[in-house]
Amino acid sequence: MKCKVNPYYMERLYSFYCPFYDYVFGQLLGPGRRQCFDYLPRRPHQKILEIGVGPGSTLELYPPHNDIIGIDISASMIERAQKKAATLNNGNSFTFLVMDANRLDFPDNTFDVVMAAYVITTVQNPHQVCQEVLRVLKPGGRIIFVNHTRSQNGSYWGRIEDLLAPVFVRIGFTTDLDVIRVMKESGIIVQQAIRCNLLNTGRIILGTKD
Ligand SMILES: C[S@@+](CC[C@H](N)C(=O)[O-])C[C@H]1O[C@@H](n2cnc3c(N)ncnc32)[C@H](O)[C@@H]1O
Repeated sequence: MKCKVNPYYMERLYSFYCPFYDYVFGQLLGPGRRQCFDYLPRRPHQKILEIGVGPGSTLELYPPHNDIIGIDISASMIERAQKKAATLNNGNSFTFLVMDANRLDFPDNTFDVVMAAYVITTVQNPHQVCQEVLRVLKPGGRIIFVNHTRSQNGSYWGRIEDLLAPVFVRIGFTTDLDVIRVMKESGIIVQQAIRCNLLNTGRIILGTKD
């Protein structure tokens, strides 16, 4: 049975982490976060949604002349991302909104790119979040997830990740979620999964919709 994520706990936990998030997770998860931007299409004037934007650890990585909307369930994170964006002068337009990724308040087919860095293992209903991502993405648009994903069924590591999940969920994410499988089950066309981060513990997962 999968480890349960409590959204109220996560919201409070990440609001608590907010002032020092970048010193801990920011550095640790930085390589995958930077590498995933290699897969962001370089067209100008794209409409990009970043879900679970956190304190804005990715903001300076966006290429110029794009319209970026960052959402997060934590108001403290959104406030911090807003302050960071105000210090940047890279020709991008940034908008930040407190919003639950389970219920994206955008019309269908709105975004050219949807990005989520280390978010899908922090949500209560990852299938619903993937379906929402798919709904708001334009046909042919790009999904970029960077995340840990559970190892293959039957593998030694997979069983360890299942055992560790109840511990790690207290720290802020679950380790027993097969992210690639969830994306596929939700209707996302998964194109590529690239290993990243220390000991190859992360994957950059690229997807699209018909
Ligand atoms: C591990 S942090 C990742 C932050 C950032 N994307 C990064 O690259 O480090 C997870 C973020 O997702 C947010 N989050 C968790 N559940 C969410 C939800 N249901 N909707 C929107 N954001 C959520 C948390 O508040 C937190 O800022």
